[in-house]
Amino acid sequence: MTARPETAQSPFDYLIEPGGRLSGRLRVPGDKSISHRCVMLGALARGQTRVSGLLEGEDVLATLAAFRAMGVEAAGPRDGSLLIRGAGLHGLRPPPAALDMGNSGTAMRLMAGILSGQAFDSVLTGDESLSNRPMGRVAEPLAAMGARIETAAGGKPPLRIHGGQRLCGIDYRLPVPSAQVKSALLLAGLYAGGVTCVREPAPTRDHTERMLRGFGYPVQTEGSIISLRGGGALTACAIDVPADISSAAFFLVGAAMTPGSDLVLEHVGVNPTRIGVLNILRAMGAAIEVVNERMIGGEPVADLRVTGSRLHGIDVPQDQVPLAIDEFPALFIAAASAEGRTRLAGAGELRVKESDRISVMAKGLMRLGVDTHETPDGIIIQGGKLGFSRERMEVDSGGDHRVAMAFAMAALRAGGPIRVRDCRNVATSFPGFAALASRAGLAIRAIGPD
Ligand code: S3P
Repeated sequence: MTARPETAQSPFDYLIEPGGRLSGRLRVPGDKSISHRCVMLGALARGQTRVSGLLEGEDVLATLAAFRAMGVEAAGPRDGSLLIRGAGLHGLRPPPAALDMGNSGTAMRLMAGILSGQAFDSVLTGDESLSNRPMGRVAEPLAAMGARIETAAGGKPPLRIHGGQRLCGIDYRLPVPSAQVKSALLLAGLYAGGVTCVREPAPTRDHTERMLRGFGYPVQTEGSIISLRGGGALTACAIDVPADISSAAFFLVGAAMTPGSDLVLEHVGVNPTRIGVLNILRAMGAAIEVVNERMIGGEPVADLRVTGSRLHGIDVPQDQVPLAIDEFPALFIAAASAEGRTRLAGAGELRVKESDRISVMAKGLMRLGVDTHETPDGIIIQGGKLGFSRERMEVDSGGDHRVAMAFAMAALRAGGPIRVRDCRNVATSFPGFAALASRAGLAIRAIGPD
């Protein structure tokens, strides 16, 4: 068995010895959603945008490469710092080839909004996972604004976007709560005549709205209605990206479910549209303190202290589902370690993430001996049995970064070692995960796939 560096170029698995606990202070990498947006808005602004704390994960690097291919100059990223020389809203140049968005749904959907407003044609492609994700949810409302977008069968990528169209603002009610669709429409709205208005059925992350305002662009939010008027300009600014609560989630769950743990996660973004994981874990009995809360560049940030306790199963409150949508793989591990049953419903969106997270997590949990029942839009997990087997157990990540990291944390409460197959996509959102987790107390290493 060979030790492997964590790079996406070479496939690798994680092997985690059972037991241990998490302690110390650590800062997880920058927020992925915010990092994408500062590259996009920085590229479209007038002047130089200076970013610190940027996530140098592959998803964000794909967004940056796309803008470089359209003539935007940027220095970095290096140690989280990036200097972008904005081209202005109308300064992008036609890309010489298709733009490859890799594994990133956020990149593809938000770029579709921006590219719909350009004078030139473009094509957006992605990896195998992204090529199977629904794009009709952005292509259809963008077409209603006047964009011309062709998709493959079933609304799948690649997206062929024909430039030179005259866009017009629409009033659109989102059929599912989606920050990506909302953001795609608002970004297209920058290029549209009149007002673009998005109505949300439930609150979703509002980083686009906050950052547009930070770049001096007026955006109105009235209850669940968000609107902007096209034809303005973005002015460059400085952005400090907080640590990603979605990456912190693995450590929150690991520490919360492991007696003796005492961990502080520093400088974590605690935007109210992202803190479902804190609310759900607390409802399960977790001890989490939010300390030193402050505002950094229009986003709330805090340090999170979590200590190990006995968790119990719950019915996940419906209003928390969109606020914790990326954290369910980790939360399912908390549920597996908890006493009693956890029930999640109304989370069908999990089936169209980087993998079908309901199915891939249910299969893995059953491999770990946990009673798990899939439903069309959720899951029922009978907790308390994690750790019965002393055998070495194997689970497959389905190529999904968050599934891989969630199962790695399960080893803290397992009876035997866990091997997680196919972990290369961890680099999309959390480069250096194994090194940081091992510093905190998880007995994890990357090994060849054999
Ligand atoms: C994101 C929005 C969410 C989330 C994704 C990032 C964003 O997707 O799952 O990881 O940055 O806007 P949906 O908008 O599809 O819910």
